[in-house]
Amino acid sequence: MPEPADREEKGAAAPSSGNGAAAAAAAAILSVNNIEVVYDHVILVLKGVSLKVAKGEIVALLGANGAGKSTTLKAISNLLSAERGEVTKGSILFDGEEVHARSPNELVRRGCIQVMEGRHCFAHLSVEENLLTGAFTRRDGQAAVRRDLDLVFDYFPRLKERRGSTAGYISGGEQQMCAIGRALMSRPKMILLDEPSMGLAPQLVEEIFEIVGDLNAKEGVSFLLAEQNTRMALKYARYGYVLENGRVVLDGEAKSLSENEDVKEFYLGIAEGRRKSFRESKHYRRRKRWLA
Ligand SMILES: Nc1ncnc2c1ncn2[C@@H]1O[C@H](COP(=O)(O)OP(=O)(O)OP(=O)(O)O)[C@@H](O)[C@H]1O
Ligand SMILES: [Mg+2]
Repeated sequence: MPEPADREEKGAAAPSSGNGAAAAAAAAILSVNNIEVVYDHVILVLKGVSLKVAKGEIVALLGANGAGKSTTLKAISNLLSAERGEVTKGSILFDGEEVHARSPNELVRRGCIQVMEGRHCFAHLSVEENLLTGAFTRRDGQAAVRRDLDLVFDYFPRLKERRGSTAGYISGGEQQMCAIGRALMSRPKMILLDEPSMGLAPQLVEEIFEIVGDLNAKEGVSFLLAEQNTRMALKYARYGYVLENGRVVLDGEAKSLSENEDVKEFYLGIAEGRRKSFRESKHYRRRKRWLA
């Protein structure tokens, strides 16, 4: 979690309400500028994506399967090369510095960490051991690491209860908590969180988002949150971007996105104020405005 100095910094750049875009631009912790990503030298997946996250805010990256959400997060955390992917155009700045210049490890040390889709834990290690692996980039000593372990347990009481359990045998929700907790052990300024809701029961999803909201409010951690669960993401984010087919087709304040007719119809499954049936949504009549 950020040092107190960072928290103050964050306070100064608190999520803006009135003059949103200008303030966000001024105090961006992350700025992605018109990036293209190509896999295997030929498959163009991101076709000019731009987005910003201001210090201390939660921003949602929304979109259906294959829209390019995970690719965007991996471009930021510099993990694309492991999948034969490459940023071929544009730039990404984290905390004022070009991401390209840093290895994933260095980025973690500077405060940017990704929690991958699919709640990856080391299955044969205990929950506590998993959490401790998250501190491997730190140089501030055992005592500080132990203090942060306690802090993670404060935020995730379930993990405290299961601290000695083998991670491979805990529930899916607990594994997701373990993955987020491990990221927290690196004392991040920003977490790139990929689909925390995936495959989890609604009650657990609520619980996890509630903790994410708390971490943001109390510890000042910024989040870029990739989600298919549009309703939950917009409930906690200040701002959101909708990705389709490797392009941002819509962006805006979370409130205005959740009131947008197209978002309601295509991402929230609600039309004309009522929930649509699967049949209706499958054969929708209205054309998305951004395709018009
Ligand atoms: N390693 C890869 N090699 C080639 N193509 C890839 C690779 N990874 C992803 N893609 C393709 O890039 C596109 C975007 O994938 P990505 O995983 O970023 O989408 P997503 O929005 O995260 O989807 P989901 O919601 O299903 O996780 C998809 O068409 C996918 O098939
Ligand atoms: Mg994904």
